[in-house]
Parts: sequence; C-alpha cells; structure tokens
Amino acid sequence: MTIHPIRLLGDPVLRTPCDPVTAFDDKLRRLVDDLMETMLGEPGRAGLAANQIGVSSRVFSYNADGHQGYVVNPEIVELSEEIQDGDEGCLSLPGLYFPTPRAQYAVVRGYDVNGDPVTISGRGFLARALQHETDHLNGILYVDTLKGETRRRALRAIRAADWS
Ligand code: NI
Repeated sequence: MTIHPIRLLGDPVLRTPCDPVTAFDDKLRRLVDDLMETMLGEPGRAGLAANQIGVSSRVFSYNADGHQGYVVNPEIVELSEEIQDGDEGCLSLPGLYFPTPRAQYAVVRGYDVNGDPVTISGRGFLARALQHETDHLNGILYVDTLKGETRRRALRAIRAADWS
C-alpha cells in the first residue's frame, strides 16, 4: 500500500472522464488499498477518487458520517429532489470551501473488488460525498457546479491560490 500525493486542479487527469474497471484483479485491489490508505492518511478526508491519485479508473473511496468504504464503477441511481446546503471542499483545491447545493439523499450502485454488486445510500454529508466523488470520475469538480456570485467568488479564489 502506498500513500500517494493528491493531484491538484490544473492536472489534466482531473478533467478526463475515468475508464470503467473491466478486470477485478490484484491491480484493482492495490488501487482500492491505496485509495483507502491515502484517504485515511489525514483526518477530515471524506472521499477520494482514483483520478485524484493519478489513476483514470472508475473507483472512489469515502469516509463520511461513520460510513467508510469504496465503490468500483459507481453510478448514481437515485437523487432526492430535496436539496441540502453546506460548504464543500476538495483535496484537489486545497484550502477552499464554498456553499454547494446537493441532493439531500443519494443512492449509488457499483461493485466491490470481487465484482459483486453493492449499493450505498446516504443522507446529508454521506450523500454529498457520494455525489462529489462520482462527479470526480466524470471529470467534474465541485466548483464547476457553482452558480452566480458563488461561482465568481470561487474562480477568484482559485486564481489567487498559491497552488494554482
Ligand atoms: Ni474532491
């Protein structure tokens, strides 16, 4: 297992839709181990998508509201119409947080490392993490979903950030 550096906004891998996993093999198990270890390596990391450690495969890990795990080839199959507000951040845009509306409840379907189907459902912070990480695998960052003045504020903050 290896703790990987986190890719930052500007790295093209974050903007590339990840490839579906087709082989449920030892390479996939290592990727899942690395994602979990890198996510848990620092407190407060709610999730990590494979492209954030430079691997363009559809896998993410999550650690939110006491729920911890990973999903291979995740797909959002249900989102509530009810919306939650709250600040969102991302390891690939360090130090920045912006209010980001998300569905209050989300259901994700995918697979475990053996290729067996799994379903994860959650409300609140877990639902937020599931939506954020699935977006990552599609090459989308949370700041892309912002609108209006919040979006302008985010773009200004990104330009001013010392890592950009
Ligand atoms: Ni993120």
